[in-house]
Amino acid sequence: MAPMSTPPAPAALPRILSGMQPTSDSLHLGNYIGALVNWVGLQQDFDAYYFVADLHALTVPTDPEVLRRRTRVTAAQFIAGGVDPKRSAVFCQSHITEHAELGWVMNCLTGFGEASRMTQFKDKTAKGQNANVGLFAYPMLMAADILMYDAAYVPVGEDQRQHLEITRDLAERFNARFGETLVVPDAYIVKGSAKIMELTDPTSKMSATNSPDKGLLLLSDEPARLRKKIMSAVTDTESEVRYDVETKAGVSNLLVIHSVLSGQRIEELEREFAGKGYGDLKKAVAEVVVDAVEPFRERMAELLDDPAELDRILADGADRAREVAVATMARVRDRVGLLPSVR
Ligand code: TYM
Repeated sequence: MAPMSTPPAPAALPRILSGMQPTSDSLHLGNYIGALVNWVGLQQDFDAYYFVADLHALTVPTDPEVLRRRTRVTAAQFIAGGVDPKRSAVFCQSHITEHAELGWVMNCLTGFGEASRMTQFKDKTAKGQNANVGLFAYPMLMAADILMYDAAYVPVGEDQRQHLEITRDLAERFNARFGETLVVPDAYIVKGSAKIMELTDPTSKMSATNSPDKGLLLLSDEPARLRKKIMSAVTDTESEVRYDVETKAGVSNLLVIHSVLSGQRIEELEREFAGKGYGDLKKAVAEVVVDAVEPFRERMAELLDDPAELDRILADGADRAREVAVATMARVRDRVGLLPSVR
């Protein structure tokens, strides 16, 4: 975890931004390995903005009290995972009302057919889920989140790639139509670790909303629970510990988890487990996961014990974010031709 006393990053550093939805009572190991680990690493070299995407979470009907609790939990987990709020702006999306405003401008730049082709919307409606217009407009709000901060890079997992592509398209379209205004961002997706799979079905992505509890490693899980889930992870009928996503998805997923958390290369792990069985691999993975999650759980509990302090951190983060957002929106309003309000 980064020390709390690190000085704020000078504003001259290039910006990065990313967010997570508060759609569950805890983040899972996929969120951690696919995104949070990189957020923590990158905050040293970038002016970083990390937010809880509470407006996006409204696309799924949630009890208001539950949404408030999950929003605090998500922010606490960013910090427990190593995001340093003194260095990086940690905030709630809804606290910066400019996100919704720029989202509207993005909606007006997006073709209906273009939005209909986004896989997240297509998948959810194909499964018969009762989609609302917010879900349809989800990618345009996400584009607004990113473009608001002139982000050069957006550290996310593989499942967000298409959203980054439409964000780039929208930035380029805006600039072509209204003159150079928005920075065209690049996705920061780490090959190999950007898609952590479910333990019970290693061909499906680990997901808070779709995976069964046994397939999900939650950052709030107690050690015994983590161990049990990992020991029952689905593998294959062979016995060789080898990385091969096509034919050995379960074993490969375990190797990736171990490798990211322990810092050991996959080839080293293959050598270490040569001649050993899957049980040995699972035990070792369980230990590295427990070692990573235990301090995290303690720090999260401390932060959640003091909601006033957490709210203050979020308010400070929002102050920093608002400064940038207000300036971007002023630029955007002027470019698109909205009349300023003056007396
Ligand atoms: P969300 O909340 O679904 O996920 C948060 C982050 O975790 C990554 N992730 C994974 N990475 C690897 N393996 C997995 N199994 C896995 N599951 C999730 C996601 O890729 C993501 O990086 N639309 C975004 C939230 C958002 C956002 C933004 C992100 C809103 N606005 C602007 C970046 C920039 C989402 O739903 O992520």
